[in-house]
Amino acid sequence: MELSFGLLQTCRPKTSWISFIFLYSMLCIWTNVECWSYFYSNNNNMTWPQARAWCREHYTDMVAIQNQEEIGHLNSWLPRKRTYYWIGIRKVENVWTWVGTGKALTPEATNWAKGEPNNGRRGRSKRVKEDCVEMYIKSDSQPGKWNDERCEKLKTALCYTAACKNDSCRYGDCVETINSHECACFEGFYGEKCEQVVQCNMEEVTVPYKGSVNCTHKYGNFSYDSSCQYSCDEGYQLSVARPLKCNASQQWSEQPPSCELVQCQGLSSPAGGSMKCSDPLGNSSYQSTCVFTCDEGHVLAGSPSNTLQCEASGMWNASQPLCLAVQCPSLQQLDNGFVNCGADADVMFSYGNTCSFSCGPGYHLVGPSKAACTSAAVWSDRKPRCEAITCQLPEVGAHLVTECSRPLTKLRPNSTCSFSCEAGFELQGAPSTQCSEGGLWSKAIPTCTAIGCLAPEVPTSGQISCSPALSSPVFTVTPHPLGTVCIFTCDEGHILASSPSNTLQCEASGMWNASQPLCLAVQCPSLQQLDNGFVNCGADADVMFSYGNICSFSCGPGYHLVGPSKVACTSAAVWSDRKPRCEAITCQLPEVGAHLVTECSRPLTKLRPNSTCSFSCEAGFELQGAPSTQCSEGGLWSKAIPTCTAIGCLAPEVPTSGQISCSPALSSPASTVTPHPLGTVCIFTCDEGHELQGALGMECANPGQWTSAPPNCTAVRCPLLEAPENGDINCSNSEPVFNSQCSFTCSQDYSLEGHELLTCDRHGNWTSGQKPTCQAPPSPVTAIASGVATGGALLSGLSLAVWILKRLKQRANKFELNSNSDIEAPPQVYKNSIDSLI
Ligand SMILES: *[C@@H]1O[C@H](CO)[C@@H](O)[C@H](O)[C@H]1NC(C)=O
Ligand SMILES: *[C@@H]1O[C@H](CO)[C@@H](O)[C@H](O)[C@H]1NC(C)=O
Repeated sequence: MELSFGLLQTCRPKTSWISFIFLYSMLCIWTNVECWSYFYSNNNNMTWPQARAWCREHYTDMVAIQNQEEIGHLNSWLPRKRTYYWIGIRKVENVWTWVGTGKALTPEATNWAKGEPNNGRRGRSKRVKEDCVEMYIKSDSQPGKWNDERCEKLKTALCYTAACKNDSCRYGDCVETINSHECACFEGFYGEKCEQVVQCNMEEVTVPYKGSVNCTHKYGNFSYDSSCQYSCDEGYQLSVARPLKCNASQQWSEQPPSCELVQCQGLSSPAGGSMKCSDPLGNSSYQSTCVFTCDEGHVLAGSPSNTLQCEASGMWNASQPLCLAVQCPSLQQLDNGFVNCGADADVMFSYGNTCSFSCGPGYHLVGPSKAACTSAAVWSDRKPRCEAITCQLPEVGAHLVTECSRPLTKLRPNSTCSFSCEAGFELQGAPSTQCSEGGLWSKAIPTCTAIGCLAPEVPTSGQISCSPALSSPVFTVTPHPLGTVCIFTCDEGHILASSPSNTLQCEASGMWNASQPLCLAVQCPSLQQLDNGFVNCGADADVMFSYGNICSFSCGPGYHLVGPSKVACTSAAVWSDRKPRCEAITCQLPEVGAHLVTECSRPLTKLRPNSTCSFSCEAGFELQGAPSTQCSEGGLWSKAIPTCTAIGCLAPEVPTSGQISCSPALSSPASTVTPHPLGTVCIFTCDEGHELQGALGMECANPGQWTSAPPNCTAVRCPLLEAPENGDINCSNSEPVFNSQCSFTCSQDYSLEGHELLTCDRHGNWTSGQKPTCQAPPSPVTAIASGVATGGALLSGLSLAVWILKRLKQRANKFELNSNSDIEAPPQVYKNSIDSLI
């Protein structure tokens, strides 16, 4: 709410106000009625500043004059005072100003007395400053008018009290009236205190199809200044975007808008293509989709997509595509010719256009005469070329010699060729011809017919004999007449080649009936290089292995030749000698001297130069000569091979089953490598049952040799025993030597008579002088025994054991064997006791 003094408003004549003006005759008395009330001071002794201070202290301010009515009221109501009244106008920075509002005094509002304001110029020479204003209340001549005065003058204060309060008017300006106030309502409001707001028809705010509305109310529901903003669903737009506003005349500012389908710009089919649209909502409208396709030979361009969609913004989501004809590579002019693709430069190389080709004069087209640009952006055919028109080089006829203008590869029109024949032939036809503008020869190419055969060449290393012979055989250019026969022969070591026959005949064609023979040297087998050596057959590779050539051989360093040093290739196509070989030069392995120990660098098969051998002697010998030697480059040893001389004898071998006793005895006889000194004597003895064979003793003599070989100890032998009749023998040794044992057994039903076990003693005798025999049993016993025998094999084994036991008992009694002897002990244990018995 705005509180105003209404000073300006009161300047507006408003007759209706008159009825609201209440006049109060109050003398410094405050009234409790809310109105614009006037007051004046009792005394008239106040300067303008004092008067204003007094007004502001006790009332609202100094009086502000609003209109003539107010002036009339004050003039009639206030008592006349000689010094008049101060009012609330004074000069501020040289402008007359309402002090209450600080606003300048407008010309319309002024109520100056005649001739005023004059700023003290009335008949006085000296100017005084008259910056304050008095009112001539009840003046005779000019009642109620204003006069400018010096502010220090003493006058009566004229004050007022404002009627408007903060809450006087709700939605309006409070206007002070004389002794009261009134509310000037703002637009859209009414009522005494402007507390009522005008309303618009809410029913008029309708919701459109595909739209919605949102109203905001400032003062009241659908009242002044309410605003209804419409919006549409996606793809629709408002017919009027402005909101509906409720105005002071209770009318909505607009008709409710409608929601209209968003439209995109219409599209059209592109040249060289077509368009297919689907319009779910409306033609070229929101959500319409158009698909563009191009005709054959055209490609989509000008858009990133072949499908366009109308968006809610009313724009297609991509620019409209074009269909451009595909472009074939541009065709350059032909060398010496022309390319014609039509006059329209834009479509010259585009799909569907055809270019034709032609050649300049003197050239003809090689290749297609036209090509079309295909939908694949390539030409339907390759580009031709223009070739100069030429005549073919005349074919080389047999024996025909042709001479044409050069260059031969470009026989252009007007070139000429002339013809002749080889010797022995003559021309049939025109001797020359000329190339025409059409590329053909003016005359047919002539031929050559034979008048004889050319003399064959005499082969190297050979001869020719022809019949009939030519009168001057040196001139080979003279042809042999048809029918001539020539026979070829070759020198020794050469054979006829390159022809199936050694006889040639001149035929009607002017040719020999076979190719001319050659005489070639026979070839020996090629010689490979030697291992570790060289073959030198001369520098000419052609004749290296030919008849008559000689090859020589040599070996590399460290090798020497074994075989012939050279061979020659014979007319029989074999070499005159075998191929040699290169052998490594080696030294002979030194001969094995007596007692000499030789150590040579390996391998011993190949003692090459620089190989060494070192020498030492067996135990009991010492070296005579150099201890080592080296193989020289020539294959000989650098030093003579040394020899060994004795310093004693090697310990002799102890015979098997014997002993040896030497004097002087060796300190450690176990080591046989220590040499017995010269003069040592050794005696041999043999073990029991063995006899010495050889010398009984021997002596170590110079040169380190025993005087005899060591003897052998051989076991003594007993006579050979045979099995008894009806019995068997089983011996421990195959030979009946010392300690051999033989046991005897008899066949079934026979009993052994004599000892069953014989041993060979150290004298070569069997322990029992008597060889045992097998006795047949008496007849009755024989029957029983045979009965027992048929009783079973088990029983016979048992009866044999009983029988052996019985026999042993008998023998014990007979020989009085030592009672300690165990009959089950092996024979070796008791052999001594048996020996002692025999
Ligand atoms: C506006 O309308 C609402 C709901 O109908 C109501 O509650 C409220 O009092 C109204 N306000 C005024 C200022 O009339
Ligand atoms: C435009 O919209 C269509 C249909 O949704 C779509 O296929 C196409 O890719 C869009 N184009 C672009 C450039 O986004």
